[in-house]
Amino acid sequence: MSHLFPTYQRWEIEPEHASGSIIHGKDGRSYLDFTSGIGVCNLGHRPEAVERAIKEQLGLFWHVSNLFPQSIQEEAAEKLAKAAELDYVFFANSGAEANEAAIKLARKATGKKKIITFLQSFHGRTFAGMAATGQEKIKQGYGRMLETFVHLPFNDLEALKNELDDDTAAVMIEIVQGEGGIHVVHKEFIENTEKLCAENGVLLIVDEIQTGIGRTGKPFAFQHFGISPDIITVAKGLGNGLPIGATIGKAQLAEHFGPGSHGSTFGGNPISTAAACAVMDIIFKSEFLEEVTAKGDALFQLLNQELGSLEVVKEIRGIGLMVGIELTVAAQDYLTKLRESGLIALPAGEKVIRLLPPLNVTHEDLQKAVFKLKEILINQTITA
Ligand SMILES: Cc1ncc(COP(=O)(O)O)c(C=O)c1O
Repeated sequence: MSHLFPTYQRWEIEPEHASGSIIHGKDGRSYLDFTSGIGVCNLGHRPEAVERAIKEQLGLFWHVSNLFPQSIQEEAAEKLAKAAELDYVFFANSGAEANEAAIKLARKATGKKKIITFLQSFHGRTFAGMAATGQEKIKQGYGRMLETFVHLPFNDLEALKNELDDDTAAVMIEIVQGEGGIHVVHKEFIENTEKLCAENGVLLIVDEIQTGIGRTGKPFAFQHFGISPDIITVAKGLGNGLPIGATIGKAQLAEHFGPGSHGSTFGGNPISTAAACAVMDIIFKSEFLEEVTAKGDALFQLLNQELGSLEVVKEIRGIGLMVGIELTVAAQDYLTKLRESGLIALPAGEKVIRLLPPLNVTHEDLQKAVFKLKEILINQTITA
């Protein structure tokens, strides 16, 4: 029997070792991993430069606490702030914790209570993250939620105009709703959201936990829209598998996060920040990001060409290498068949197959994945 709480329904594949975009299972088979550990291993499994940076830091010190200055933390913060065109960074250990810090900071800095989020959003599993999330299934059984959050339909400008009031501290939004089914924000909506926030003294928080660190072909997805959020949150891809999260904000917020106002024992851990520095050195280079865009374009073109006319496919959407294939039926059984055929992909909501390949995936692997998808979607008639 397993002594793990059964919070996850686990797949049938147990990894033995992994490198690049391949997971080698204990069953002796190799699998093409288009999950990247749920959007984490953006450089594939065990990229050399990141492994080297981790080993180097392992030989120096592992943990000393945030009572000490640590240049590896400063270096990671500088790289993040620069890439995000923001000023200050708070390091946490996960996405949910990064969002907790953002929520606390927004309330403290504005002195207001309400935070507007959106239906189908996902912001984590802590109490505030769960309450912020716009999906009922995440909250079931946990009783009364924090009352800070109001959920509006995604991309509905009128609803947002009507909800903003004197007690609104922030609007928190994903540029592409990941867990909610790969829904991309509308340009007009996000541009006007930024404008309305500025006019009403409301902070704009962009949750970049799944979309950030190059996933959409820019360092952060908000940069496709030329907006300037007050706070962004990142995690997942930042450590390429080492746990790290970050809350990044504008200079004027710094006075509200003074000594003793927030903290984390492990936040900014030197091993994780060393990994993050190595990750950012590779991913934030413009040539690397141009390649991500080119691969994303090639993937969408091939998906549309090969799958677009299949009866079971309703819509193919996303940005860069963050892709959702919405089916007319439940995705679960197709995902099982895909794993049996050697391709591991993710669900997003009930009917969406989500592809999050490593950003350095080869064109050959992209093609392999599309043809496996086509084979399974054509040959397996599954109705649900
Ligand atoms: C947009 C978004 N926000 C927050 C989270 C929570 O991150 P974590 O699981 O690291 O706490 C996730 C995780 O899937 C996410 O996709």
